[in-house]
Amino acid sequence: MSTQNTILISNWKMKLSVAQAKKLAIAVKNKKTTQAELVICPTFASLTEVAKNLAGSQVKLGAQNCFWEPSGAYTGEVSAKELKEIGCEFVIIGHSERRQYLKETDEMIHRKIKMALACGLTPILCVGETFDQRQQGAKDYVLIQQVTQALQGVEVGSDKQLIIAYEPVWVIGSGQAIDPLEAANTHQVIYQSLFDLFPSDIVKNNFRIIYGGSVDQTNVADFVSLEKTSGVLVGGASLKIDEFSALIDSI
Ligand code: PGA
Repeated sequence: MSTQNTILISNWKMKLSVAQAKKLAIAVKNKKTTQAELVICPTFASLTEVAKNLAGSQVKLGAQNCFWEPSGAYTGEVSAKELKEIGCEFVIIGHSERRQYLKETDEMIHRKIKMALACGLTPILCVGETFDQRQQGAKDYVLIQQVTQALQGVEVGSDKQLIIAYEPVWVIGSGQAIDPLEAANTHQVIYQSLFDLFPSDIVKNNFRIIYGGSVDQTNVADFVSLEKTSGVLVGGASLKIDEFSALIDSI
């Protein structure tokens, strides 16, 4: 795959203060341009400050979550429309940490995907098996279920883009990524379930599948060079500019 198509999404989780996010965003913006498409996803609280500091750069902005209703009495939630309004182009939906700690269900994720698309955001749908599910031999089943329940019935016009991030839950933050060959096989499984849901031209042109889970400068090239892998979702290795720069340069 050409590096031109590679997307590098960095998920800052809840790890930085607003001041730290601003500083890191400026450093990423000043990083020598690469052919990769760079997206950074700070917390809601940091989005406006980061957006301001990314203005005029090629670096794109994403949020880590959104709500499924357009507006209303939903205390504490943030609408996809507002995210679009402040400059987001992407939104992570269904990250395993939200599935685990916030009890997000496939139904909630499905509704969020629809709302994100309706508001002109590109959803980054996260799917992945836990260690137990893997041990039980249920990995493919779990992934097909997650993809199907999130996307069945979602209208994907030719003007929409979706990203699916395959993130084995047990690998996130562990420092030990899976074998890229396994990622490639798993991406094939995900593609297969997309072909069951959408016309093939939509699958080919409007979906991208990426890998996430302990990606760093030492392994990123192995993942982005896979034929059916359009990029990576990076957490820990995107939080320090030196490490992140080295990762970007390794693509
Ligand atoms: P990690 O996180 O790169 O620190 O494993 C990835 C993610 O949770 O998206």
